[in-house]
Amino acid sequence: MNPLNRRAFLGTSLGGLTAVAAAGHSDAGYERAPAPRKLDEFPTNVGPLDTLFLTWSGDPTTTMTVQWIGSTIAAPTAVRYVTRTGVVWNEVPTTTRPFPKTNLKVHRAQLTGLTPGTEYLLQIGTTTQLHRFRTMPAKATDTFTFVSGGDCGVNAHAVANNILAAKQEPYFAFIGGDLGYDNGISATSALGFIRNYAKHMIDPKGRLIPLVTCLGNHEVRGGYKGKREDATFYFPLFDGLYKDTSYASLDFGDYLSLVLLDSGHVSPIAGAQTAWLESTLRDRAERPHLIAANHVPAYPSYRSSGKTTVPNSILGLFERAGGTGEENRKFWCPLFERHGVDAVLEHHDHTFKRTHPLMDGRPNKYGVPYLGDGSWGMLRAPVTPEARPYLAKVGKAYHFTVHKLEGEQRFHVALDESGRVADVCGSTGKRPALRG
Ligand SMILES: [Fe+2]
Ligand SMILES: [Fe+2]
Repeated sequence: MNPLNRRAFLGTSLGGLTAVAAAGHSDAGYERAPAPRKLDEFPTNVGPLDTLFLTWSGDPTTTMTVQWIGSTIAAPTAVRYVTRTGVVWNEVPTTTRPFPKTNLKVHRAQLTGLTPGTEYLLQIGTTTQLHRFRTMPAKATDTFTFVSGGDCGVNAHAVANNILAAKQEPYFAFIGGDLGYDNGISATSALGFIRNYAKHMIDPKGRLIPLVTCLGNHEVRGGYKGKREDATFYFPLFDGLYKDTSYASLDFGDYLSLVLLDSGHVSPIAGAQTAWLESTLRDRAERPHLIAANHVPAYPSYRSSGKTTVPNSILGLFERAGGTGEENRKFWCPLFERHGVDAVLEHHDHTFKRTHPLMDGRPNKYGVPYLGDGSWGMLRAPVTPEARPYLAKVGKAYHFTVHKLEGEQRFHVALDESGRVADVCGSTGKRPALRG
């Protein structure tokens, strides 16, 4: 992966990127997650008009999962859809499940057998409003764009980045954990994230932008080493993809796979998850685009990656503890390198960062780049590349990344919340070592 000439790049490959002139960006904001609220009370008029969003449980070229959070009183029990040029509407019944700590339900309809690369109209029950969405293309021969980031919350910065992200006309958005900072406790925060997403993540042509996520510490009561039920609001919303495990792969036809990991919040990093990762990556090593994602970074830009000394209150001694990402580096990174992962998206540290392509922790042109570090709506000041030689570029900026995939080429453009391009890099094909 090489940084590209920004001007040449923007003048050609990213002609459609919605960037604005360079401008200052606010660095005021949240250093910490907001405190969880007490018992949540909800109005009964919450429903599909303000919480409707799309996600995926199966192949995004032919399926779509329609969801909203709302009351069951006089609620729609089916959704209808038709291609934009079609005349015969299809109807799919909804299922419901509790949205915990409230009297609301998660309503879900699973659309299957869709035509790849096609625009559809969507109607919720008998409501008069028609929504639009599109399926992913069958092949990666055409250019397509998605956006990614993490650590949103429900503040004004998160909303500003939602609005800017939607303007990029992405086919989908990936949020890598710490969505609304509900901490497994606050239904208000969980609902607030979905409300913001539903309101703003609609592209300029009126199409809903599907949401793909992975688990972060702020979705889980206690943050780490939790049980599945500790992710109180997360799995009721996203267990279409995460049916039995807190990690999953999402395969887009035969051209893109997202391998979505749990960095120790419900599932341990070592053991079953790592064994699953090995076989999952091996099966997908020749995909043109193989991207992994996790919440806690292997190569942090704010927290310490090295050994730290912590007091042991029982023994009265000091002992050494691993730094942030230690288990990722031990168990996952060798697999990323061995099986041809093209990029890893990671979050949690609340900065903008891009690492060098890394092999065994050191810059190597055949290595794996790590893009992050989770500042969609949360912010901290990163350490410098001088202090951490694995870092190629850092910044204190609320940001998300626009990924543009063209055949076997990938471009990654970091935009800050003002629309300024913070970074551009790209790569083509698989590393020669893997072609061997
Ligand atoms: Fe976070
Ligand atoms: Fe986090």
